[in-house]
Amino acid sequence: MNHKKELAAILYGLLDQEIPAAQLEILIEKPKNPDHGDLAFPCFTLAKLKRKSPNVIAQELSEKIQSATFERVEVVGGYINIFLNKKLVSESLINQVIAEKGQFAGLDFGKGGTVTIDLSSPNIAKPFSMGHLRSTVIGNAIALIAEKCGFKPFKINHLGDWGTQFGKLITAYKLWGDAEKVKQNPIKELLALYIKFHEEVESDSTLEVEGRSWFKKLEDGNEEALLLWQWFRDESLKEFSRIYELMNVEFDSFAGEAFYNDKMDRIVNLLEEKKLLVESDHAMVVDLSEEQLPPCLIKKSDGATLYATRDLAAALYRQENYDFVQSLYVVGHEQSLHFKQLIAVLGKMGYEWAENMVHVPFGMMLKDGKKMSTRKGKVVLLEEVLNESIAMARHNIEEKNPNLKNKDQVAKQVGVGAVIFHDLKNNRMNDIEFSLEEMLRFEGETGPYVQYTFARACSILRKANYLAVVLPENESTTWEKEWKVASLLMEFAPAIKRACENHDPSLIAKYIIDLAQGFNKYYAEVKILEENESLEARLALVFSVTVVLKEGLRLLGIEAPEEM
Ligand code: ARG
Repeated sequence: MNHKKELAAILYGLLDQEIPAAQLEILIEKPKNPDHGDLAFPCFTLAKLKRKSPNVIAQELSEKIQSATFERVEVVGGYINIFLNKKLVSESLINQVIAEKGQFAGLDFGKGGTVTIDLSSPNIAKPFSMGHLRSTVIGNAIALIAEKCGFKPFKINHLGDWGTQFGKLITAYKLWGDAEKVKQNPIKELLALYIKFHEEVESDSTLEVEGRSWFKKLEDGNEEALLLWQWFRDESLKEFSRIYELMNVEFDSFAGEAFYNDKMDRIVNLLEEKKLLVESDHAMVVDLSEEQLPPCLIKKSDGATLYATRDLAAALYRQENYDFVQSLYVVGHEQSLHFKQLIAVLGKMGYEWAENMVHVPFGMMLKDGKKMSTRKGKVVLLEEVLNESIAMARHNIEEKNPNLKNKDQVAKQVGVGAVIFHDLKNNRMNDIEFSLEEMLRFEGETGPYVQYTFARACSILRKANYLAVVLPENESTTWEKEWKVASLLMEFAPAIKRACENHDPSLIAKYIIDLAQGFNKYYAEVKILEENESLEARLALVFSVTVVLKEGLRLLGIEAPEEM
């Protein structure tokens, strides 16, 4: 099925097996202009090697290339241009999709290796922010894509449920808190307390001391502190769970920062044994000047541990318990330094597996060009965003298709899908501007556009009562008009592979946009349902498009309603 591979194998034989087929394969290009064929092999490197002109070599080789898959071979300007046999190639592809359905384009290079994915990881007692939304959506898609490539993903929600902020929160709660209010509206109320703490501390610095001492008590297992902490955590998780349910995201572990409390001494001891801990400003740090990084703080003067210490314990725990081939951290790029330090410290400790840890950073979500922050109350609450998006989708459906059954379910699939797609269509490093109107458009590069294209294709199949069975042998379609769409379908597996290798779901989002556009163009130009000898072939193509669009959306964590 892989035509580049086939061409490389033929060239390998023609060149007396002098150059490895894999190397030849890398040279093969896909011309942008279809007049230059479906594949092109540049002969310039060979020309240097053989001291002949590129055109002469191209000519010599092209005369000997013979395969049913390659219909026509041309030589132009030192290139061998290859035209695929459209009928043969399309039909075998379509039959493959019909046979494999959702399994189509599955890959196995992951070889069952475990990939741990640290994703979402919101902070207890704080609202679920846009940054956490990005991490959730990107991490979830990375997990789905990894699975499609034969890896075993393991999704960890590294909850921010420990740290000095809990000392501040307990202080604030004890001074100004109201249990009833917290029960009714936990995150809003806890956030208000946290904000009040930060306002008051500016004029009353004893609060800072008080906060630090409550965190110390928490770390030392003080009962009152622990009870309050547990309560804040439970209430927060209840709220987060509603968001995860809306978004259809599940986790394999909720081991957050607090989980590593009893695993921290071991880290400090190991660092001491390896003579990596040094004192600096009354704190214990690992010096990373060799690595040209600032020192990594391990323990404060009062003995309290830090974010980095907990991440060191977590990394070791993951390696020992999951034996990962790769350990990913889907966290905003503002934490790049933290992860560089983390990996550097583990490297210094002699752990070779630290090389398999990858920080997968992403850009910020902006509103009117500015960062959306949680501290000052300028925050957009994610649950509100999702519910608003669902309501807008519902409104659109009411306008476009008032008789639709299960409108509520479809509105949820479209509304949530729109938010996810808007996030994933950009290269993850880009900052993105938040705009519900933009997300929910039915035209342009949006989730609803792809979903709508899928639903339209499904409706064609329904009208025709299409049953997905292999194409008849004596079928007479030339596949000329279908070629653009068929060749797009062939790009699905390579797009999945690239998305997996680069930890970049946007490659799949862009791919399904291309496919949806290609299909809509075909739909505008060809009468699909016309009764003639090619009807079955056209329907099979439409069916293949539905399979790939649905699977592409699934890999992004988005559902595909059959009617909308
Ligand atoms: N809770 C952190 C935050 O909101 C993100 C945690 C990321 N994961 C990690 N292992 N450090 O900034």
